[in-house]
Amino acid sequence: MDQATSDLLTRTGPGTRMGNLMRRYWVPILSSAEIPTPDCPQVRVKILGEKLLAFRDTEGRPALIDEFCSHRGASLFFGRNEECGIRCAYHGLKFDRTGACVDVPSAPQVAERMRITAYPCIERAGLVWAYMGPADQQPAQPGIEWCTLPESHVFISKRLQQSNYLQAMEGGIDTAHVSYVHRYEVDTDPMHRGVKALDYIKADGNVIFDLEKNPFGLTLYGRRNGDEDTYYWRITQWLFPWFTLIPPFGEHSLGGHVWVPIDDENCWAWSINYHPGKPLSAAEREEMQAGKGIHVKYEKGVYPMSFRPAANRDNDYLMDRVAQKDKRAYSGIHGFSEQDASLQESMGAIQDRTRELLLPTDKAIVMARRMLEEAALGLERGMQPPALDAAAQQVRAAGVLLPKTQDPKPWAKDKIQNVNGKPVYTL
Ligand code: FES
Ligand SMILES: [Fe+2]
Repeated sequence: MDQATSDLLTRTGPGTRMGNLMRRYWVPILSSAEIPTPDCPQVRVKILGEKLLAFRDTEGRPALIDEFCSHRGASLFFGRNEECGIRCAYHGLKFDRTGACVDVPSAPQVAERMRITAYPCIERAGLVWAYMGPADQQPAQPGIEWCTLPESHVFISKRLQQSNYLQAMEGGIDTAHVSYVHRYEVDTDPMHRGVKALDYIKADGNVIFDLEKNPFGLTLYGRRNGDEDTYYWRITQWLFPWFTLIPPFGEHSLGGHVWVPIDDENCWAWSINYHPGKPLSAAEREEMQAGKGIHVKYEKGVYPMSFRPAANRDNDYLMDRVAQKDKRAYSGIHGFSEQDASLQESMGAIQDRTRELLLPTDKAIVMARRMLEEAALGLERGMQPPALDAAAQQVRAAGVLLPKTQDPKPWAKDKIQNVNGKPVYTL
């Protein structure tokens, strides 16, 4: 890949082409629990390179505004959250959730021209989402399955990844790596162990990939030998511009991620587990809370909470060479997400894609990159971004045995698109 294409794909700040594309979708900003009650402490958030401030106003409505006061630029983090707005602590200017300046104590007549940036917010699945694009282009609320379910059915955590979003998201699309870095973890992790799928995954490391472009993004078909007359298909979904859905493991909850740029060198990796038809059990929640499965244990003693894993680049991700020798941890790192983060952060903040040498298993990544690039360039030419239709986002990942003669694509169209009320396909 040339440097210009790499820049197009990885730069997401205001005015960049990928930044413009991403701003046309609802962006997960922070968890509702980070601003739990009316007038609770405001929280600094950086998203797509913009320094912002999230708060919940007196009426309980979430808000996202510029972090800095329009007067002389003081951070509103040090302000007061009171009576439906944030009052700057320096000279008392006050801003409401729409960014309007509602009070200038020393010069009320100029309030109107003191407005700051603000973005509309909604809450779904226990997350606050903001729309950061042109006001007249606001899309329907996100329709991906886990964000349409009752909160009892869903568990979501986030972790800080100290790399560009693209190399993180590529890990979610590249299912070939599961047979290597995650190889031993699947046997012991409470959210993966004890399922039939693992037999097929282990018996056949030579996965054959096929791809399908869809209105929502990309469907990735991974084929392994099944039983005598069947293939075992693991079907992964990538949805514009940053959702990935992981093929399920037996009766364990379904999983997925969202990869959201904080700036060009950091991203939020949101990890989601859910059951479409029933609440998560107390035991499942406890394991997720404890950092099992795709969730992590956080570093402690940092204020404000960093959401950085306890195993991070400053401590070589708690490298355990004994576990590596003993075949308990393939790379010596423990935890699925920590394993991914260690490798993806090791590429540098923004991977130098002019030097990579791609392999056949990278087909899906190449296609996703191309689709992102086309969408960003298309937007520039006045075309609408893909996958804005919330109904088209109602897809699932799956694991299924199909007769060797059966084409999985019509099967997928029938069984794992428009999934409302349909069974989960898993083994
Ligand atoms: S800098 Fe905010 S009121 Fe003066
Ligand atoms: Fe992974």
